[in-house]
Amino acid sequence: MTAIETLDLQRAAKEHLWMHFTRMGGYEMADVPIIVRGEGCYLEDSNGKRYLDALAGLFSVNLGYSFGEEIGQAALEQMRELPFYTNWSYAHPRAIELASEIASLAPGDLNLTFKRYLESPVRLSVESDYVTRIDGESLDAELMREYLAAWGDREAYAVSHVGWGMNARARWDAMAMYDRRDVNGTEQRAFAGNFLYSTGANEVAGRHTLGHFDLPFRHCTIELDGKAVVRDGKLVDQMVWNDMAEVLGAKLRPLSA
Ligand SMILES: [Fe+2]
Repeated sequence: MTAIETLDLQRAAKEHLWMHFTRMGGYEMADVPIIVRGEGCYLEDSNGKRYLDALAGLFSVNLGYSFGEEIGQAALEQMRELPFYTNWSYAHPRAIELASEIASLAPGDLNLTFKRYLESPVRLSVESDYVTRIDGESLDAELMREYLAAWGDREAYAVSHVGWGMNARARWDAMAMYDRRDVNGTEQRAFAGNFLYSTGANEVAGRHTLGHFDLPFRHCTIELDGKAVVRDGKLVDQMVWNDMAEVLGAKLRPLSA
């Protein structure tokens, strides 16, 4: 940036730019700092002064400032393909990919191998039936990463089984009441509306391993052929169960309290 450009921007900033949370009078005699570039976690102003951006662009630049080319290229390709469309009754490829590849464990979800309620978020990336990444800085994430890695076996990362809980009498919070040696988490596998996602052995798929996680998620929506059976962690109404019973030719209903 040349000195003339800096001077013009200074004048224009003082005359026209209304800065947020700023005492504008403070710049009557002083220059407005004009940030012109960034690298990693640092910013640089038009005078070459560097700043550590401890707020990460007010939390919107969490990757830092060195990925402009990469992000710009991805944005260009997406803009050309489809700039935007809503998910109101319609889907599009990127939304589907994102939704299917990331499963987020939240505080209160369970890891029954450890007989432990999660206290921090953990993000699992799932591709082609295998967990490919476990993201999170917390102890919960670290335990999952270390445990699975210790098997030295890719099959420990595979999807083992999935399902959902139907027993309204089973209590999510019951495991908190007992010594872990006295429970095996059966009640937490069964409580109504949980989505049970498990990793490890799947004999039907010919996958064998000793590593195994049972992970009941709360607050999920589960759909079968487009029909919700659990919505936001609650079993859906009796009508859907009647429909399913009709399809299965059987009496089928959720257990009630
Ligand atoms: Fe299991």
